[in-house]
Amino acid sequence: MKNLLIVYHSQSGTNARLMQAAYDGALQESEVETRLLRASEANTEDLLWADAVIFGSPENFGYLSGGLTDFLARTFYPYQHHAPNRNLAYALVVGTGNDGSGAIRQLQRIVRGYPMREAAEAIIVRGEIQAADLLRCEELGLTMAAGLALGIF
Ligand SMILES: Cc1cc2nc3c(=O)[nH]c(=O)nc-3n(C[C@H](O)[C@H](O)[C@H](O)COP(=O)(O)O)c2cc1C
Repeated sequence: MKNLLIVYHSQSGTNARLMQAAYDGALQESEVETRLLRASEANTEDLLWADAVIFGSPENFGYLSGGLTDFLARTFYPYQHHAPNRNLAYALVVGTGNDGSGAIRQLQRIVRGYPMREAAEAIIVRGEIQAADLLRCEELGLTMAAGLALGIF
């Protein structure tokens, strides 16, 4: 059984909704176990458990949110210690105000150090969530889970 971790920060609920949609999509793949966790509740054990990761974050002040950055800062050295040679597949969703490019750039830079490899193009949702955005996130969750089940990741 392969494992998918969905880890996100959300202050006002946007990214929580988007990640719930990704989780609903992943649950459609019964051969994969999926954990949906707020970044503040997730730790190194969750990353070591995971075979692939979906990150969710707003952009704040042009950067990745502090909540997700905190998770990455807390887990970086312990993860390196336990799993220096892994290359986890990941995807990113940025539910944001009017940009999102800074958050994407920063995450791509951070995960190079783990390292992790981008499995899907980042999804940016700007402003109010539309039904199509939830669908895109649901499809991402299903795609990542199906990729795990098929042994692609
Ligand atoms: C302190 C603060 C800084 C923000 N900075 C940015 C920014 O740099 N770029 C952007 O596109 N949106 C920015 N926003 C808007 C948030 O990214 C947006 O409201 C997002 O949907 C919040 O996600 P959440 O509801 O999951 O917390 C900022 C919001 C706050 C509160």
